[in-house]
Amino acid sequence: MHQSIEECAEQLLNNEVVGIPTETVYGLAASLKSPSAIAKIFAIKGRPSNNPLIVHLASAEELTTYVDKLPEMTHELALAFWPGPMTLVMPVKMDAIPEIARAGLTTAAFRVPNHPLTLAVLKLTGPLVMPSANLSGKPSATTAQHVETDFGITFPVLNGGSSKSGVESTILYWKETNGQGRWIVIRLGALPPEAFNAVLGYTPEIEREKKEILEKPLCPGQLYRHYAPQAELILVTEIPKEADVVIGFENREYPHAERLFYLGLSQDPHTATQRIYAILRQLDAEKIARAWVDMSFPAAGLWLTLQERLLKAAHS
Ligand code: TXA
Ligand code: MG
Repeated sequence: MHQSIEECAEQLLNNEVVGIPTETVYGLAASLKSPSAIAKIFAIKGRPSNNPLIVHLASAEELTTYVDKLPEMTHELALAFWPGPMTLVMPVKMDAIPEIARAGLTTAAFRVPNHPLTLAVLKLTGPLVMPSANLSGKPSATTAQHVETDFGITFPVLNGGSSKSGVESTILYWKETNGQGRWIVIRLGALPPEAFNAVLGYTPEIEREKKEILEKPLCPGQLYRHYAPQAELILVTEIPKEADVVIGFENREYPHAERLFYLGLSQDPHTATQRIYAILRQLDAEKIARAWVDMSFPAAGLWLTLQERLLKAAHS
């Protein structure tokens, strides 16, 4: 059920949970100050309690409320990428963030989202925690309608149109070893790792485990299923003749396909990542049992994010 900015803010201040658009994906929002609303998020999504949430702020200045000593380059990263699809994980003042939001960890994740409606709500409510607005394990929501599909048509949601990025924020984690700190990527997302080079002077490394999986995409046994439709996804670099349902590219030929879903042009990773979750959800809406995905794209830049999401969605 669509709500106004003011109605959403009022419910959030009343310990309720509402769906909110962001430029990456829709979020399921609760006030950071309301442990009972945060507990509702975990219950509604069916999310394991050991998976912490991202704290969304209206501006980078608010970080100092939660963090004693900002890691190196935090200011520079914030200046370059906020508001925007970058999340920063760092050690926090534990009593400033409810334990349930950080899943008992001594660190927390922060992001300033770049969507005028989200920022308008944040200005009325103060900090909000928001996981993606999907049932745990399902493809993320990139429209208000997706949120209603997962949580019911009476569920309150602020309609902000289709999410511009269509995939989640990139998460950078401040890692210290022997007194030496560095930012590393712990979740690929809307910003490719190279995007941070200009600010950091290095490209943050992708967490080792994740890197190994991406380098051996044909043995995704270590992956847990996530972002997944009901449909079985078959990831291939060449679409076989028997493939009747194909997720592929507009500028390629799939002469045997009976149903085609287009990720855009094969040289445009932005359109592909923007569309992927809506396509995975459409497979379920059409009760499609099996689809072949054209994975013939570079394992680099934003394509790597698409590859990782598809590997997780396909793993059974
Ligand atoms: O784009 C996004 O980031 C979206 C929108 C709504 O802002 N949010 C989102 O939230 O993707 P969620 O909950 O689906 O994913 C948050 C990720 C989880 O994988 C969680 O494990 C990680 O952030 N995370 C949160 N706090 C963390 C921490 N202290 N240490 C390590 N990872 C953390
Ligand atoms: Mg999620």
